[in-house]
Amino acid sequence: MKTIKYRKPRKYPMFRPQLWTPPHNAAATARLPALTQALDDRLLDIATRFLRVKLASSLAVEDMVITDAIARLSLPFEVFTLNTGRLNAETLALLPASRLRWSIAIKEYVPHAEAVDEYVASHGENAFYDSVDLRRACCRIRKIEPLNRALADADAWLTGQRREQSATRTELTWEEQDKARGIAKFNPIFDWHETDVWAYVEQHDLPINALYREGYPSIGCEPCTKAVKAGEDIRAGRWWWESRDSKECGLHK
Ligand code: ADX
Ligand code: SF4
Repeated sequence: MKTIKYRKPRKYPMFRPQLWTPPHNAAATARLPALTQALDDRLLDIATRFLRVKLASSLAVEDMVITDAIARLSLPFEVFTLNTGRLNAETLALLPASRLRWSIAIKEYVPHAEAVDEYVASHGENAFYDSVDLRRACCRIRKIEPLNRALADADAWLTGQRREQSATRTELTWEEQDKARGIAKFNPIFDWHETDVWAYVEQHDLPINALYREGYPSIGCEPCTKAVKAGEDIRAGRWWWESRDSKECGLHK
């Protein structure tokens, strides 16, 4: 009788590079009670000093941490997002998820349709790849002008920026003066590490963008964001075709 020999399948090397994954760190979990207390104290301090306070949320994990603290403390702060019209579906999914989780309706500010149409007609829909100037012009129309409208009646605004995020943020403090708008600006988790943010997300089981599980540590508009490899700069996937020093959209000038 003929015997059929079983042949082991050939092993092919894995070509897929190891992508960034959300970090887990036991020391950060241990630091969390003190960090959370400091965050709560900062937010309560803002609430006693200012009447109309708004959180600018890009629906990133940092902003979810601050939103969670605002909801836990029942603070009367508005949470808004700049819906540029070029966000990922995974990002937009956080709007209903946030409503379910905190009963907070995140307010959306959208760009003026005429300005977008004019940009697209003059330069093309994806002209931001062609030059830094055209990229900044797109950010101006889709982010900065709507931000100006969002903050027109605010006394103070909050962001989820952290010092560790980029070379341009190392000097960040918790309280700043937004001189252009003549209002206060706060970065309540400016001193948190990436591991602290993820420890909070884990402990409070916060809703998060599904793209974090696909190698995206920092998420902006869909055409201007990609996944990064493990060990790469966490903002390497933002405007990746530009040099490091131009990688700011102008929201935090
Ligand atoms: S960016 O300047 O490079 O786009 P980044 O994505 O790091 O900013 O986000 C830093 C902070 O800016 C966020 O935590 C949030 O406070 C604010 N922000 C950024 N993008 C938006 C957005 N689309 N809507 C509202 N706030 C935003
Ligand atoms: Fe336009 Fe990209 Fe800026 Fe979004 S991040 S506003 S798509 S240039």
